[in-house]
Amino acid sequence: MRERVLVTGGMGFIGSNFVRYMHDQHPEVQIINLDKLTYAGNPANLADLADRHRFVRGDVADPTVVDPLVRECDAIVHFAAETHVDRSIAYAGEFVQTDVYGTFILLEAARKYGIKRFVHVSTDEVYGEAVGRPSLEGDALMPKSPYAASKAGADRLAYSYYTTYGIPVVISRCVNNYGPYQYPEKLIPLFVTNALEGKKLPVYGHGRNTRDWIHVEDHCSALDALLQDDDNAGEVFNVGAGQEKSVLDITNIILKVLGKNDSLIEHIADRPGHVARHAVDSTKLTRTYGWKPRYDFEESMRRTIQWYVDHPEWWQPIKSGEFRRYYDEQYGDRSVRNTIQR
Ligand code: NAD
Ligand code: DAU
Repeated sequence: MRERVLVTGGMGFIGSNFVRYMHDQHPEVQIINLDKLTYAGNPANLADLADRHRFVRGDVADPTVVDPLVRECDAIVHFAAETHVDRSIAYAGEFVQTDVYGTFILLEAARKYGIKRFVHVSTDEVYGEAVGRPSLEGDALMPKSPYAASKAGADRLAYSYYTTYGIPVVISRCVNNYGPYQYPEKLIPLFVTNALEGKKLPVYGHGRNTRDWIHVEDHCSALDALLQDDDNAGEVFNVGAGQEKSVLDITNIILKVLGKNDSLIEHIADRPGHVARHAVDSTKLTRTYGWKPRYDFEESMRRTIQWYVDHPEWWQPIKSGEFRRYYDEQYGDRSVRNTIQR
């Protein structure tokens, strides 16, 4: 059992769900949460646990912040990253800085202070297209966006710290997560909250691109299995739920649960480099740890949608702040440029 774990990016969507998961499953483990509080980091995500874990506001790319924290810990779970594909198309530099250079600073600290386990939270985006079958851990990495390429750089840098310095790094590559506290720039919370506000649901292109969707707690339980194991250094594990759905499938579920009409759907200009299909084979994870996703897709999607219905006090302040400028910039004139037929 790990005693003190440094969680980076623990005020974001998955990180905050992971801190809560650890608090519930392993209350004896001390958590230090290092987060810069970018636009995506939100202390409200962990308001109920504010005095039950230690929060440090700081940048993973700053060794003066990182070093003393890593020295105190026996393990790291590294979530902190710039994470939105569309933003990476506009501002790639921030992705290289945090996702690649920030990971380098953490790995250097792990090397200096003899960390027992470094769980590097990578993503299935590093594979690029899943052609013909779900991606396997040994497949080539063919990332298609600056976000995915930055994550691929970090993923392989982490691996090199295992092969070169023997740092006990283990790497996860998970599919699209859904659940509570997801920043409303991502498909599901954006479309749910737009529909609640009576706004259009901007589907990129034809909307037949598919993703595999996993409940965030199933991702957390997979990461916990990787964190607790002493024999997985240098390994990569895919994490998927086998729930491949298109953007239109997801949109129609949201409309149905909310009792809204499909006239809200608006097809707009496509995302450059839009990946047609992401899906992974997670047989290795299941064989190694007996891990399986526990959450039923239909039921937990319904619950997730209901969570946003029940928590306007969480998402309304977000959507009225920095988000509004982002939204205008991102979506402003895209319908005008749209040439895609439904
Ligand atoms: P998110 O954008 O919701 O949260 C990211 C968090 O990192 C925020 O709290 C932010 O403040 C923090 N952060 C950003 N830059 C930082 C820096 N320089 N120093 C310290 N903190 C910083 O992201 P998420 O969706 O929760 O993703 C978390 C991790 O999981 C990322 O590494 C992402 O690549 C990976 N991942 C996400 C998904 C998904 O579906 N969301 C799937 C697979 C993997
Ligand atoms: O696959 C894992 C990845 O999943 C993570 O590594 C990323 O951090 C996470 O953001 C997510 O990337 P996606 O690009 O798949 O997520 P997003 O929610 O942005 O888009 C999901 C799909 O929905 C994608 O096909 C694009 C489409 N989409 C998205 C938005 C925001 C739309 O059609 N309209 C939209 O407005």
